[in-house]
Amino acid sequence: MTRIGIIGGGNIGEALLSGLVAKGTDPSDITVADRSEQRLGLLEQRYGVKTSVEATDAAEDADVLINCVKPDVALGVFESVSDVVDANSSATIAVSVAAGVTLEAMESVLPAGTPVVRVMPNTPMLVGKGTSALAGGRAAEQSHLELVRDVFAKVGRAVIVKEKDIDAVTAVSGSGPAYFFLVTEAMVDAGVNLGLPRVLAEELAVSTAEGAAAMMAAGLDDEENGDGPVDLRAKVSSPGGTTSAATRALEENGIRTAFFRAMQACKDRSIELGK
Ligand SMILES: NC(=O)c1ccc[n+]([C@@H]2O[C@H](COP(=O)([O-])OP(=O)(O)OC[C@H]3O[C@@H](n4cnc5c(N)ncnc54)[C@H](OP(=O)(O)O)[C@@H]3O)[C@@H](O)[C@H]2O)c1
Repeated sequence: MTRIGIIGGGNIGEALLSGLVAKGTDPSDITVADRSEQRLGLLEQRYGVKTSVEATDAAEDADVLINCVKPDVALGVFESVSDVVDANSSATIAVSVAAGVTLEAMESVLPAGTPVVRVMPNTPMLVGKGTSALAGGRAAEQSHLELVRDVFAKVGRAVIVKEKDIDAVTAVSGSGPAYFFLVTEAMVDAGVNLGLPRVLAEELAVSTAEGAAAMMAAGLDDEENGDGPVDLRAKVSSPGGTTSAATRALEENGIRTAFFRAMQACKDRSIELGK
């Protein structure tokens, strides 16, 4: 039995909560803390978990304590529960999903020796399709990382990385959903330009994105025989055909360069915000 404390029952806190309960975690093993009693009442009603307006109640005896508040208040929240974490009999693993909050900063406000884990999730977690990358601090052992990975895997995929890679991860998966939204939006506009009604163009573009993503995900799941994005594209590009004509136009307009530059800009901004 793993006791889980969640501080901050907002978007990410609720997404985690719903994934955990849906995948079989006993709601009585989860305590959620939030400032709003109304919000807590709702979460209690939806998921049957224990709730409190005191962050310290979520921290008490938690094996995994997940801080899901906004980045500007994340360290203050850890500081406010530090004594409770210190008094816990189990070595509480302190987890933060706050963008830009480093492992070193977390360690500086928690009791010495606390295993800390920093997670970079993304918004598809809200529909159980998240991608989370997690990195551990000085006291975080492999078993701690695997436990936290298993928690985040309940709402999508979760991988263990080094903290030095978190800014690059932000550029790929953290901000990644927005790139796909933008590409889809551009396809809708182009469809309208070709004469399709907007509603129809949107249905076609979104459904195509969903299908393409499902094929790529199936490839990822089948390590031995699965097709990656390169194979999948090759298979739909017949010699001299329509898809090849479209690909040529995209390449001539610098699609790859645009992504290299965009993701470098994202990584640079992530480094800047972390300072
Ligand atoms: N949403 C995303 O796509 C995404 C992606 C990657 C990372 N993240 C990270 O996830 C974290 C949470 O984001 P979110 O979108 O879930 O935010 P959110 O919806 O605002 O949820 C945060 C919740 O925590 C509550 N809270 C604030 N201070 C508290 C305290 N001292 N004790 C207990 N509860 C407190 C807030 O209450 P109030 O509303 O009263 O302040 C709110 O209900 C952020 O650090 C963000 O960087 C989010």
